[in-house]
Amino acid sequence: MPTKCNDRTELAKQLDQVIERNKDLPGPIIQILHEAQNIYGYLPLDVLKYVAGKLGVPQSEVYGVATFYHLFHLKPKGVYQIRVCLGTACYIRGGPTLVDVIKTELGIDIGGITEDGMFSVEAVRCIGACGLAPVMMVNDKVYHRLISPAKTRAVIREYQALARQEAKATA
Ligand code: FES
Repeated sequence: MPTKCNDRTELAKQLDQVIERNKDLPGPIIQILHEAQNIYGYLPLDVLKYVAGKLGVPQSEVYGVATFYHLFHLKPKGVYQIRVCLGTACYIRGGPTLVDVIKTELGIDIGGITEDGMFSVEAVRCIGACGLAPVMMVNDKVYHRLISPAKTRAVIREYQALARQEAKATA
């Protein structure tokens, strides 16, 4: 889980410790990026450049590792990560409509994140629930047979209500 600390200096210190601890191990880039992502919640470009500089390797090498593995994210993710399946079965049964509803409700497109950082949306290719298409996930929870826009809207609004509660609790 990403750390809750948002102090940039503190995060940079943690990153330095990670690099120091791993730099002399064989093939340290993956481990360092993994821990860096836990610190920042994703892998900002300046972090990739910084890691490359500290390891004395080309930026392209670090960038290549970061973009090769699906577990690494180069963009920030929302507290609620929505994954819409656009695999064949889901696409045919209404996946694009799910995307339209999400766009309308949250004001963001695939690959986007809401300004408050609560929601991000990405497209995925088949999560193995084709018989229940169309499906989407919110974090680890799967919502299936989202055939009517109203059903998708209800799911989104449920999470918007949760987000509002969280915002109130932390205000
Ligand atoms: S195509 Fe969507 S779950 Fe398989």
